[in-house]
Amino acid sequence: MGKLVAVFAGDGIGPEIMVQARRVLDALGLDGISYEEGLVGGAAYKAVGHPLPPETLDIAKRADAILFGAVGDFDCDHLERHLRPEQAILGLRKELTLFSNLRPAKVFPQLVDASALKPEVAGAIDLLIVRETNGDVYFGEKGMRKTADGKREGYDIMSYNEDEVRRIAHSGFQAAQARRKKLCSVDKANVLETSQLWRDVVIEVSAEYPEVELSHMYVDNAAMQLVRNPGQFDVVVTGNMFGDILSDQASMCVGSIGMLASATLNESRQGLYEPIHGSAPDIAGQGKANPLAMILSSAMMLRFSLDMPEAADRIEAAVAKALENGARGPDLGGSMSTSEMGDAVLKVL
Ligand code: IPM
Ligand code: MG
Repeated sequence: MGKLVAVFAGDGIGPEIMVQARRVLDALGLDGISYEEGLVGGAAYKAVGHPLPPETLDIAKRADAILFGAVGDFDCDHLERHLRPEQAILGLRKELTLFSNLRPAKVFPQLVDASALKPEVAGAIDLLIVRETNGDVYFGEKGMRKTADGKREGYDIMSYNEDEVRRIAHSGFQAAQARRKKLCSVDKANVLETSQLWRDVVIEVSAEYPEVELSHMYVDNAAMQLVRNPGQFDVVVTGNMFGDILSDQASMCVGSIGMLASATLNESRQGLYEPIHGSAPDIAGQGKANPLAMILSSAMMLRFSLDMPEAADRIEAAVAKALENGARGPDLGGSMSTSEMGDAVLKVL
């Protein structure tokens, strides 16, 4: 059976890094994959008036996997929220029930010196953040209103129901089971009711995974521990907002935000694959973007949604080898352009 991959390059550096990921996929000569491109984000808004047009959503629904570049465009920041580029990724996560966002952070030994941390601290990083992406303050009721004395007030309601917590808890425990069997649940249960429920439900679910060692950490402490001693973490499971923040932080601990790939899965293992960095409009179109996170995202896609683990291994090994050979763009202290970084990976393949 052929597999369909939706290709949504989006805004900013999205298109240029996507070109490199497609070159790498094409070089593998994989049988039975077809690609269909769609418009998302500011690019879609400018072309057809909506960040997630129905045609794009239709491709996504039919696809086995979605390769996603980035969305975000300063030109669109004045638009009503439902028309902003970010709604493309949020809409896809919600419409396809892509709730389990896997964000691995592992140091490439070749990049230890690029980390913001001391080499001996950075060298120990091999963790996976499992971030919930269908609920939390991202999707609660929100708006602008006036207080009784006429002041402007913005509000966003944070909530999780137990089913939402239970399914992401299972993702976290299952991921831990396949790794070093340690799960750290990150919350703010000392202040938030949402987090108290989160913690209670994670503890309930833990009964089904006796071989996984469960711990709990407040998010502020987790942010601190992530730079103090990141080697202590195996799998971290957390909510949408905390996971957004901690995953950017983890990326700098491993060297560059240009290196981190992610997968967002639903219950039928349909997945969306994207680098965790954004559209970086400040460097778009200048050949400065690091395509490796996008390339590594396509490897995750081959592994999780397309059942092609050997091809995924080949890409990951080629990236490691390219780094060993000295491939470095500006984000890693070098001067290679986006396409030269792609060339370096292709050369190894
Ligand atoms: C991410 C991004 C998105 C998020 C934005 C673009 C809406 O920061 O995937 O981490 O906040 O989830
Ligand atoms: Mg983010």
